[in-house]
Amino acid sequence: MNYRHAFHAGNFGDVLKHAVLALALARLAAKPAPFFYLDTHAGAARYDLAGSEALRTGEAQDGILRLLAERDTPPGLRPYLGVVRTLNAGEAQCVRYPGSPWIARKMTRPNDRLLLCEMHSEALRDLRRATAGDRRIEVRQADGWGALKSDLPPPERRGLVLVDPPFEAKDEYERLARGLRHAYRRFATGVLVGWYPIKTRGPVDALHAAVVAAGIRRVLVAELLVRAPAADDDPAARLAGCGLVVVNPPWTLAESLAATLPWLAARLAQGPGGGYRLDSLAGE
Ligand SMILES: C[S@@+](CC[C@H](N)C(=O)[O-])C[C@H]1O[C@@H](n2cnc3c(N)ncnc32)[C@H](O)[C@@H]1O
Repeated sequence: MNYRHAFHAGNFGDVLKHAVLALALARLAAKPAPFFYLDTHAGAARYDLAGSEALRTGEAQDGILRLLAERDTPPGLRPYLGVVRTLNAGEAQCVRYPGSPWIARKMTRPNDRLLLCEMHSEALRDLRRATAGDRRIEVRQADGWGALKSDLPPPERRGLVLVDPPFEAKDEYERLARGLRHAYRRFATGVLVGWYPIKTRGPVDALHAAVVAAGIRRVLVAELLVRAPAADDDPAARLAGCGLVVVNPPWTLAESLAATLPWLAARLAQGPGGGYRLDSLAGE
């Protein structure tokens, strides 16, 4: 297992994932009842954009750093950009980037509960450091796929589950579909969010078909393409975009994304054929 998110922090994939995560958490927090947040693949919580890993790839340059240079940002990005800006308060530029656990930590209330699973020792050490002293948070060195079975449904009966695997293994799309199915069986009313990369359409279409075949209902798909995806048989296919499957999208999420995704797609384009998709995968 070699994946280290520090190389990719703040890239366009993080932008879509974290913007949607922040919007969904804001909706959950709008009601007083406490909720549960499960991050199956949590990562390090905070990333140094001036560090050697981030500088080596420069991916944040074509992600969060493009957005922060804009003035006309749509309201749908406010919760996300608010967390990024607060983390960089006092800095002349954006040098720190929040991972999903940090965004969740900042957007939850004193009576909410967070479970963060991470396998990699280095990421785990940073995660523990970033969340130390916060009694609402359990950091667990564990296989996040297992938590979808062992920790759902939560006693709170309200919550958001983020499934954000590294996509290093070939079968990760199938695993994501299986993981969402397990989570849905146990916690059919939860907000379940799964992230996936798009190089070619084939595996993505298969993922969507598997979600529908699993009987999962109320599924929103949000995708961002920075260039056209390659043909399925192209051995040199590179990352063209990313997407999210959102089960039980909170009220107004689709509406906010409809107003946000065109703007994001225009700002984050890297080549011809980019764009976005916002669709309902399976109805009521
Ligand atoms: C894409 S990164 C997570 C990024 C993070 N969710 C965010 O948005 O900031 C995937 C993480 O999963 C960890 N990981 C890989 N396999 C895992 C597993 N089976 N269970 C838990 N964590 C795992 C990796 O070490 C890596 O930190």
